[in-house]
Amino acid sequence: MKSLLDIYSLSFSEIEEILILAENLKEILGRPIPKVPTLRGKQVLLLFYEPSTRTKFSFERACKVLSADLMSFSAKGSSIEKGETLLDTVKNLCALGVNLIVIRHPLSGTPHFLSKHIPIPIVNAGDGRHEHPTQALLDLLTVKEKLGTLSDLKVAIIGDIKHSRVAHSDILAFQKMGSQVFVSGPAHLLPEPKEQAFFEIKPRGFRVCYKMEEALKGADVVMALRIQRERHGEALIPSLLEYAQTFGLNKKTLEIIKEKALLMHPGPINWGVELSFELENYPFQVILDQVENGVAIRMAVLLKLLSGD
Ligand code: NCD
Repeated sequence: MKSLLDIYSLSFSEIEEILILAENLKEILGRPIPKVPTLRGKQVLLLFYEPSTRTKFSFERACKVLSADLMSFSAKGSSIEKGETLLDTVKNLCALGVNLIVIRHPLSGTPHFLSKHIPIPIVNAGDGRHEHPTQALLDLLTVKEKLGTLSDLKVAIIGDIKHSRVAHSDILAFQKMGSQVFVSGPAHLLPEPKEQAFFEIKPRGFRVCYKMEEALKGADVVMALRIQRERHGEALIPSLLEYAQTFGLNKKTLEIIKEKALLMHPGPINWGVELSFELENYPFQVILDQVENGVAIRMAVLLKLLSGD
């Protein structure tokens, strides 16, 4: 593995290797002094062109635990404002001795473009509406930890499937690990037939459900998503209130999932929209476990990409 650009190009064993490495690295985070010298002397550039809380800070934390040095970039206040291209910006930052770039960008495919022109590892931290591979990996780690398996599960993803990079990476990741994925949401926010074919991985396959109950019934894992309004361009749902009434999850709608099914969300959450307030105390809600596992997954990815060079 030279870069981590998407889940699409990872094999079952590559995913499994990252998960096992992350499980082992988690032990370091529980130590009184959670720091090891493994990546001392390596420089990681965080290039975030979009807002981020969990992803950016967990990459930062992962670098610090592994003793890598950090360079953080924000488009505001940089020469981007003077018209410099992304590629020129990155080439200049690389001249400062960067060993790996973590990039989040509103345009799908940007990490893939960079990896063709820049000789160091690139990690995709979310590209437009395309993919968010480290989020899917931390979701897999959380489910594996809580349910003890990643195969033969029914995973239901509810919400803005079409515009959510988290959904795309998770649909691919859970199928690759041997589970079946069911998605549901407003018809305008579901993938079109061509996209459906792209996300389908045999033999498990994935299903698009126009009725939310069909996706939720008997599910082992339920994941709610934020409506990606910033990527819609035009109004695709009448209002958030109407969305909450038809596709918002609450105790009642979750009555048909398995008894100990996990409730997940990648954050940021709009409480009262995709999840009702009462679900904050839902006993099998693992949203902060997902955040915690984000550090171990990002440590594993950094280590895998940087320890070889
Ligand atoms: C997501 C993202 O940025 O894609 N958040 C995350 O990284 N945890 C989800 C979202 O913005 O809705």
